[in-house]
Amino acid sequence: MFYSQDLVEEIRSRSDIVDVISGYIRLQRKGSNYVGVCPFHNDRNPSMSVNPPRQIYRCFSCGAGGDVFKFVMEYESLTFPEAVKVLADRAGITLPEQDPSGEARQQADVKAQIMEMNKLAAKYYYYALRQPAGRQGMEYLLGRRLTKETINRFGLGYADKFGGGLYQYLKNKGYSDQILKESGLMQADEKRGMYDKFWNRVIFPIMDTHNRVIGFGGRVMGDGKPKYLNSPETRVFDKSRNLYGLNLARMSRKPNIILCEGYMDVIAMHQAGFVQAVASLGTAFTVQQSVMLKRYTNEVLLTYDSDEAGVRAALRALPILKDAGLTAKIIHMEPYKDPDEFIKAEGAESFQKRIDEAESGFSFELGVLERQYDFQEPESKTAFFQALAGKLLEFEAGIERDNYTEAAARRYQLTREQLQGMIRKVGEKTGGLAKRAAPEPLSGQRRRKPEDANLRSQRLLITWMTSGERMFRNIRRYIEPEDFTDSLCRRVAELLEEQLFNGHLNPASLFQHFTEEEEQKQVSAMLQDTLKALSSREEEEKALQETILRVKQNSIAWQTAHVDPNDTEMLKKIVQKRREIEKLHISLD
Ligand code: UTP
Ligand code: MN
Repeated sequence: MFYSQDLVEEIRSRSDIVDVISGYIRLQRKGSNYVGVCPFHNDRNPSMSVNPPRQIYRCFSCGAGGDVFKFVMEYESLTFPEAVKVLADRAGITLPEQDPSGEARQQADVKAQIMEMNKLAAKYYYYALRQPAGRQGMEYLLGRRLTKETINRFGLGYADKFGGGLYQYLKNKGYSDQILKESGLMQADEKRGMYDKFWNRVIFPIMDTHNRVIGFGGRVMGDGKPKYLNSPETRVFDKSRNLYGLNLARMSRKPNIILCEGYMDVIAMHQAGFVQAVASLGTAFTVQQSVMLKRYTNEVLLTYDSDEAGVRAALRALPILKDAGLTAKIIHMEPYKDPDEFIKAEGAESFQKRIDEAESGFSFELGVLERQYDFQEPESKTAFFQALAGKLLEFEAGIERDNYTEAAARRYQLTREQLQGMIRKVGEKTGGLAKRAAPEPLSGQRRRKPEDANLRSQRLLITWMTSGERMFRNIRRYIEPEDFTDSLCRRVAELLEEQLFNGHLNPASLFQHFTEEEEQKQVSAMLQDTLKALSSREEEEKALQETILRVKQNSIAWQTAHVDPNDTEMLKKIVQKRREIEKLHISLD
């Protein structure tokens, strides 16, 4: 299952990316590239571009991208070894029998095996639900008014009361206890040994955006505790990077995505035609999830439970959504607890009305804020207005802040000038900074302006560096991998250097070093971004100079900010570097 780097490269060299992708979708030549309709999101325009010299593809609309192996993996929902096999067969290369040694092999193997086990488990539960012995589960689901079609669409299943069936089943397929343990499908204790984690529950398989089963949720059929049991995180199941239902919602062609809390809510909404619903997986909404959503939509509607915990969850999610550049609104479900109950009681049309009446995130936050103050008390009222001004300061000065200021002024019967005065005062006191804690930084997803520009320059420089060996060597005279403050850029720069050291640049094979979906997308963006066509050599030289200088300056600024003030050696070095940069003569040759 694990193939050597040489073999992978051999297969790559005999799998021209244009030929391979043409086998799946229609490609048309456009300049030195090829373009086609991206098969990974709903589209009619040719947003996908395939770059023959670099042997990579990228969709400018949904961000999907990678090398030839990645395309086959995504398109056919395969693991890496499976994709290697497909392409080897296609190229007429015979694969060796499994090589039994090596750490890397084991790593890749474990992941692939867990994926396979999940697939088998999902099938096992699915089948069990549809057997006479699964009647209790089926009755429960039908009792919750799911149709057979919905039950099939979501691949729902059933785990019986005995709790040993799946263990035996997977054991018979040859999986070891060790890997069974790692899969998260089993539980072990000294008395009983190993047994199924899920028993006496209906089962919700959780899929990633490529429709691969990565984990499960199980609900008791009645009032037992815990109500829901979820797979633990495993090597293939990262709860902070997945959303239940996103595999379907991303294809929905709806103008928004609805974010809710529960499996049943997602399913009930889909059944009622709201096929853009997703849920977080029994955990709080994360920055990574917001970044994923931004790929598919610009507006997120929240339908958290209408209790105190729900309000708190919504308040936590709102700034995260805002930071990802998403517009957020709240769908109110009162007097019902959640979308499932609402739809059951009032139906789809009524729910659509609630969507149309969704409240803006800002207005929702104000409502919550108001409740913490007593407007009859002058002091409390003043405190409220200060808090309000602080909130408005969280928006960067400009149209957005003006609009919200206007709306808030109207809501509290102030003149715009009065409110602006308060904002100014609070702003002066806090040095213009909003009080809100900074969100956790995420490499490549920072929104603050100067960092944005720096990040852009770093990525642009990577694009430049991968455009050819001569260019790489040229840039390398001025820039070291350490000069990249963005960790992803730095790793790419290091890998490129290593490649050159070992022979020659091979940008497409960079992908194997990045296992996270998000990283792969960003790397592919850097590789695929074409350099702006510059009319003259002088212009090109100038653009390169600017980019190099910017990256260098940013690197020095970073070092200056992080240097230990007692480290005189380092301080000297920085001063030296600063001087050098002024004299730097960067040319294209
Ligand atoms: P709720 O308790 O609101 O359940 O939990 P629900 O979705 O309305 O479930 P039904 O309608 O009674 O079947 C919301 C979500 O929180 C997670 C699950 O993801 C659930 O869907 N949860 C809840 C757990 O993971 N464990 C629990 O014990 C309870
Ligand atoms: Mn519910």
